[in-house]
Amino acid sequence: MNKKISTLMACTLIAGTVYAQKVAPAIPSDPTIEKKIEKLIKKMTLEEKIGQMCEITIDSVTDMSSPGDFKLCPAKLDNVIGNYKVGSLLNVPLSLAQTKEKWAEAIKIIQDKSMESMGIPCIYGVDQIHGTTYTRGGTMFPQGINMAATFNRELVRYAAEICAYETKACCIPWNYAPVVDLGRDPRWARMWEGYGEDCYVNSEMGKAAVLGFQGNDPNNIGEYHVAVSMKHYMGYGVTISGKDRTPSSISDIDMREKHFAPFLETVRAGALSVMVNSGLNNGVPFHANKELLTGWLKEDLNWDGMIVTDWADINNLHVRDRVAESKKEAIKMAINAGIDMSMVPYELSFCDYLKELVNEGEVSMERINDAVSRVLRLKFRLGLFDKPYWDITKYDRFASPEFAAVALQAAEESEVLLKNNDNILPLAKNTKILLTGPNADNMRCLNGGWSYSWQGHKADECAQDYNTIREAFENKFGKENIIYSAGVNYKTEAGSSYWAEYTPKIEDAVKAAAKADVIVACIGENSYCETPGNLTDLNLSANQKELVKALAATGKPVVIILNQGRPRLIGDIEPLAKAVINISLPSNYGADALANLITGDANFSGKLPFTYPSLINSLTTYDYKPCENIGQMDGNYNYDSVLDLQWPFGYGLSYTTYKYSNLKVDKPVFAPADELTFTVDITNAGKVKGKESVLLYSSDLYASISPDNIRLRNFDKVELNPGETKTVTFKLKASDLAFVGADNKWRLEKGDFRITCGTEKLIVN
Ligand code: BGC
Repeated sequence: MNKKISTLMACTLIAGTVYAQKVAPAIPSDPTIEKKIEKLIKKMTLEEKIGQMCEITIDSVTDMSSPGDFKLCPAKLDNVIGNYKVGSLLNVPLSLAQTKEKWAEAIKIIQDKSMESMGIPCIYGVDQIHGTTYTRGGTMFPQGINMAATFNRELVRYAAEICAYETKACCIPWNYAPVVDLGRDPRWARMWEGYGEDCYVNSEMGKAAVLGFQGNDPNNIGEYHVAVSMKHYMGYGVTISGKDRTPSSISDIDMREKHFAPFLETVRAGALSVMVNSGLNNGVPFHANKELLTGWLKEDLNWDGMIVTDWADINNLHVRDRVAESKKEAIKMAINAGIDMSMVPYELSFCDYLKELVNEGEVSMERINDAVSRVLRLKFRLGLFDKPYWDITKYDRFASPEFAAVALQAAEESEVLLKNNDNILPLAKNTKILLTGPNADNMRCLNGGWSYSWQGHKADECAQDYNTIREAFENKFGKENIIYSAGVNYKTEAGSSYWAEYTPKIEDAVKAAAKADVIVACIGENSYCETPGNLTDLNLSANQKELVKALAATGKPVVIILNQGRPRLIGDIEPLAKAVINISLPSNYGADALANLITGDANFSGKLPFTYPSLINSLTTYDYKPCENIGQMDGNYNYDSVLDLQWPFGYGLSYTTYKYSNLKVDKPVFAPADELTFTVDITNAGKVKGKESVLLYSSDLYASISPDNIRLRNFDKVELNPGETKTVTFKLKASDLAFVGADNKWRLEKGDFRITCGTEKLIVN
C-alpha cells in the first residue's frame, strides 16, 4: 500500500557541521577525580608518566618454563613494573583461557607490585568480546553478528552486563569490547565481531553494550561493571582488498556519516576508552591521524576518555606502513596525533624513546600530561586506587543457570530462518535425520575466534560441557533418530589453516542418507580471527558444495545450516535445499537453540543484519546508491546494473506470519527542529506465538548528492500471540534523516522522504 501523505514544504538547510563544534562533555567530569589527578601528576616523575602510557602483554611477565601452568615471573615483573613503571597489562596468558581463581591470583600479584612500586594501580585489559571468553567456565554469548540479528537491544545490554560481572569475578576491570566495526564487506575476516553492516544498528547495539558493561555512571564504575574500549576507531572493515589490515579508501562522507556514527553514539553514552584501527586510509595510518584522533574524537566531542593503540601499531608506522623512518619517529607521530597508551606489547623501548623525545622537545610535556591524565582518570573512574583487586568469592552468580538462560535466548533470537519451502520445518521429533557436514560435531565452529584462545581452536577442549549440534540433536530427537556422517571434516592438526579439510568421504554420507527422512547439512567455516582468517575465495569450500550436491541427488530433502563468520557464497547449492538456517556464530548454546528452533519448541525471530550476496561481483550493502540497482536504460547503449542478492538485509522468516498495517506519522509535513512520531500495527496472522523485529526505514527521494537507496532509522521487537495486534511507536528527530553532503557537513534538505515498515510505506516531506 502506497500512501502519499502530503506535498512539498520548505525545510531549512542545517548549515555547518554538528560535530565540528564543541559539544557538552561526553562524560561530565567529576571534580574530585580531577583534583586527585592534578595532585598525582605533580608528584610523578617523567619515567612514571611514560610508564602509564605503556601497555605490555602478560606473556612478557610470565614464567615460560612451565608452559602448561600459568605463573608470573618475579624478575620480569621487577623490570616491567618495578623499573619501567608500566601501567597496563593485557591479554590471556599462554594463549589459553584461565580459571577465574588463576586470574585473580595473578592480578593480585600485579597490583601489589604496582602499588608498592609507584602507588598507582595497573589496569588489566582483555578481549571478552562475546561473553567471558578468556575464563574457563564463563558464560559465552553469540558473537556480535548474531547479537545484531536479534535486533534486541535489551539482550545486548544484559549480555554485556553478565560479561562485566564475570570479568570482575576474575579481578579484571577493562574489556576491549564492544566491537562496532561496520561489517560492510563479507570478505573481511572480522565481519562477525561487530553488529553487521549498518551504522545505526552498530550505534544502538554499541550503546546498549556500553551501558551493560559500564553501568549508568561512567565516573563511578561499580563492582559489577567494567570499562569498555570501543573498537576499532574507525572504518576498519572496508579494506579495498577485503583482507585484514590492508589499505582502505573511505570517503570523508562515509567516514563521518557511517563509520564515525557508532563511536559518536557510544562516546556520548559514556564509553571510557577507544582502541584505534590497525589499518590505513588513503595512505594515512589511523594511528598517525591527528585529525581523527585528537580532532574528531577528543576535541569535537569534548571527550576526556583514553585512546589505546591496537597491537604493535605504533611500531607498524615504521616497520609496516613506512611513514616513520624509525621506531622513535613512529612514537613521536602517534603520541602527537593523540594516542594516550601504546599496546607495545612485547618490549620496553617505547618508554626509553618517549623519554628522549620529551627531553628533545619533540613531544611536549603538555601532551604527556594530557595522555597520563586520561590514563589515570580511567583508573580513578574504575575505583582501582581504592581497590586494585578484590575478593572474588562474592561473585557467586558466575556461570549461573540464570546467565546460561540469557545466552540460550540470545542464540535462539539470533539464528535466522532464510528458506522454508513447503513448510518442511519444524521437524517432528521422531524424524530420522542424517546429520552431516564439518560443522555438525564440534564446538570450535559454533564459537568462532576469541573463544578460549585467539583463533578459537581450543574450544573443543575447553567447551566439553556444552553441546555440539550432533549432541543437541541427539538430546532432542533421541540418539536412535540421528545418523551422523560428516562427509567433510576440517583438519585438526596443530598448525593447520582454518580452511584446511581432510580428503572428503562424501560417499559415506550419501550411503548413510538412505536410512534418513531428512538430511541436515551443517556447513560453513571453521574458527579463525584477524589476519589468519583472510580469504581468497568467498565461495563455500568446493568439498562442502560437493557434499550438498551429492546428498541432494539422493532425492531426500536437504536442510542447510550455515555456521560461519561471514556469508560464504552458496548460490549454486541453495536451490537444492528445502530449508536454510543461518546460525552464524551462536556460541556454546547455539546448538541447543538450533534444536529448539528446528523442532518448533522455539520460534525463529532473527533477521539478517547484513546483505547476503550471491555472486562475487555483486557485493553490496542495503544502503547502496540508486545507480547500483537500476534496470536497462533506453536506447542503443542499454546499460544496466542490477543487484543479485541471495538474501537482503533485514530478511528472516518465522513459523508464523506478521501483517503490517496503519503506518502513520503525526507530522506529514515537518520542519528541521521537529520530532516525528510514527506508529504501525503488527498482527500475528499465523498460528504460533512469535517475536517480530519491526524495522523502520527512510529513503530520501532526491538530494544534492545521490541519496542512499534506503536507511534503517529505528527498530523494535515485539512478542505476539496468534491473532494479537500491537501498535509499535517510533520517535524520530527530523535531524535523524540528515546526511553528510559534498562539503562534509550534515545537511537536511527539503523534499520528500519515503518511510517504509514491513509492507507499509508512506511519504513525508
Ligand atoms: C586486535 C584487537 C585486540 C588486541 C588485543 C589485536 O590484534 O586487533 O581487537 O583487542 O589485539 O588483544
